[in-house]
Amino acid sequence: MKLGILISGRGSNMLAIAEAIENGTIPNAEIAVVISDKPSAQGLIKAQEKGLETLAIPRNGRTREEHDAEIVSELKKRGVELVCLAGYMRLLSKDFIRGFPNKIINIHPSLLPSFKGLDAQKQAFEYGVYFTGCTVHFVDEELDHGAIIAQKVVEVKDEDTAETLSHRILEQEHQLYIEAIAKIVKGNYEFIGRKVRF
Ligand code: GRF
Repeated sequence: MKLGILISGRGSNMLAIAEAIENGTIPNAEIAVVISDKPSAQGLIKAQEKGLETLAIPRNGRTREEHDAEIVSELKKRGVELVCLAGYMRLLSKDFIRGFPNKIINIHPSLLPSFKGLDAQKQAFEYGVYFTGCTVHFVDEELDHGAIIAQKVVEVKDEDTAETLSHRILEQEHQLYIEAIAKIVKGNYEFIGRKVRF
């Protein structure tokens, strides 16, 4: 299965996916392209060092629809079958989502539906929860809302700061995203309402 990965920054999840494909943890998959809306994204350099094709597609004052249309066209041109958002900081247009029905997934650093949106780790830390974590989910037209594929719990410790907590969540994200992609690529799943059953 050909994957397209969308990033905006550091790209550590992208790298974890690339390494999992390399070492066989995600079988039968290849990364066709890594696209960033931010030309300065660190993740683009990391992807190039892995020998992956990269594209920077900045918004450049265009509407969301125009910008997304270019990204979709680049993904389709390369035969991408699964789009993995990995720290991609823009909402997708309806046309983008409809162009890849149930074929766009995202990782979010909280146990959804708690703490949607930006700075989810800090939101959880400041709220005072004892447990938070990360979620891989299908992307639909609402923010951080699509059907949940997998989740991992991370305990908030007394000595944590928002930063130490984010770091431990990120370690789990890398594991979870790989496990989730391997399952999706394998394809043995069905939707029961908004639930995904493997
Ligand atoms: C991760 O915490 C991810 O859950 C969130 O954005 C961050 C991206 O980190 N959506 P990286 O670019 O993969 O290192």
